[in-house]
Amino acid sequence: MGQDRSSIDNYDVVVLGAGAAGLFCAITAARRGRKVLVLEKANKIGKKILMSGGGRCNFTNYEIEAHNYLSANPHFCKSALKRYTQWDFIAMVDGHGIAWEERKHGQLFCQHSAKDILAMLEQECAQAGVEIRTRCDFQSACIADGGHYHIEIAQGSSGSKQRLEAQSLVVATGALSIPTLGGSDLGYVIATQFGLQLTARRAGLVPFMFSDASKSLCERLSGLSLPVEVSCNSKHFSEQMLFTHRGLSGPAILQISSYWQPGDRVQIDLLPGIDASQLLLSAKRESSKSLLRSVLIKSLPKALVIELQSLWWADYAEKPMAEFSDKRLATIAASLNCWSLKPSATEGYRTAEVTLGGVDTVGISSKTMEAKLQPRLYFIGEVLDVSGHLGGYNFQWAWSSGYSAGQFV
Ligand code: FDA
Repeated sequence: MGQDRSSIDNYDVVVLGAGAAGLFCAITAARRGRKVLVLEKANKIGKKILMSGGGRCNFTNYEIEAHNYLSANPHFCKSALKRYTQWDFIAMVDGHGIAWEERKHGQLFCQHSAKDILAMLEQECAQAGVEIRTRCDFQSACIADGGHYHIEIAQGSSGSKQRLEAQSLVVATGALSIPTLGGSDLGYVIATQFGLQLTARRAGLVPFMFSDASKSLCERLSGLSLPVEVSCNSKHFSEQMLFTHRGLSGPAILQISSYWQPGDRVQIDLLPGIDASQLLLSAKRESSKSLLRSVLIKSLPKALVIELQSLWWADYAEKPMAEFSDKRLATIAASLNCWSLKPSATEGYRTAEVTLGGVDTVGISSKTMEAKLQPRLYFIGEVLDVSGHLGGYNFQWAWSSGYSAGQFV
């Protein structure tokens, strides 16, 4: 295309996307002596790493198991997670002297800043001789004679076109969540071009919104957080739940959102570990003159109790416990242990931490991440149909899948 062969840059490996998976694959491949180029569309690399974990990057988890991942093939992730484990990544973090801490549920965070993780990856890239180009817009890829990839890019603000040649092409462009942090569908476009199938995509680890009366209730309670157990489609998570001016968020809600389908209801136990029926019946016996709200305020935030009162016992708001029938208390108790709400939607890709679904793993080797029918084309990280729970699982998948491909590219 008007460019003579001598001006085409040749690489062993071109990686598309300088996120967690792409950088880790590049480091692994370059350490093996491969000549590696990473292309990044944004002006900076690793934007999601910097934003992650509230700026502290929840980089892995002590308990990495396949059941912490969603995929049409729940076994697919096992090989990579075994090949490069959480202990391997912790050893690298320790090797760089990065201070970290364990939080609940085995989640590991930087003590100071997510910048430490990105700086570590940059340093590893530099040491291994990885070349990184930012502001690089991928245009097209095709197979040339000899099975090499010809890749066309537009570079910098001028958008000047350039062609590259690579033996291996690694797609690490992530998924659709948070477009402002690089969310893109490029990986799916390339997968489709080379005959791979996609599974349905939807937002995961994402807050719920409501269109019914629950919306204004959430608005009024906005900012309030409490521990709950939330359930949907036979999955349960015990964590904090946060009311927001749009609906519900917090770790419990983000976790369950990955198992929620439009139209489903979610069940919220507002008193996890407490039998509300026993609590109310014994309160009726022992504090018969108390108001129900006074009883509940000992276990739940006052503002929430006031809202629940107007939903469930407004007619008895000023009546003492003694006047409630046991049946009425049992009904209220059942709602406290199993409050059923119907979200109208999630907040979508704008705020979702991950995209569920993606490149169908049926067409990908679980050992090498290579496309089964397209030699030397690899898919790693979130672009694949593998999504983790909240808690460091998604970064561990990025490290593990990036490492696996990096050993073979
Ligand atoms: P990632 O999205 O990180 O990288 C893809 C890269 O490709 C981006 O740099 C993008 O700009 C680039 N790209 C896209 N299109 C391109 C194109 N056309 N040409 C060139 N480059 C292109 N997980 C976790 O385990 N712990 C945590 O604490 C958090 N916290 C968190 C917070 C927030 C706000 C979000 C949105 C997500 C998280 N996650 C998380 C999830 C985690 O960030 C995510 O799973 C990984 O970053 C996925 O890594 P990838 O490398 O696959 O994609």
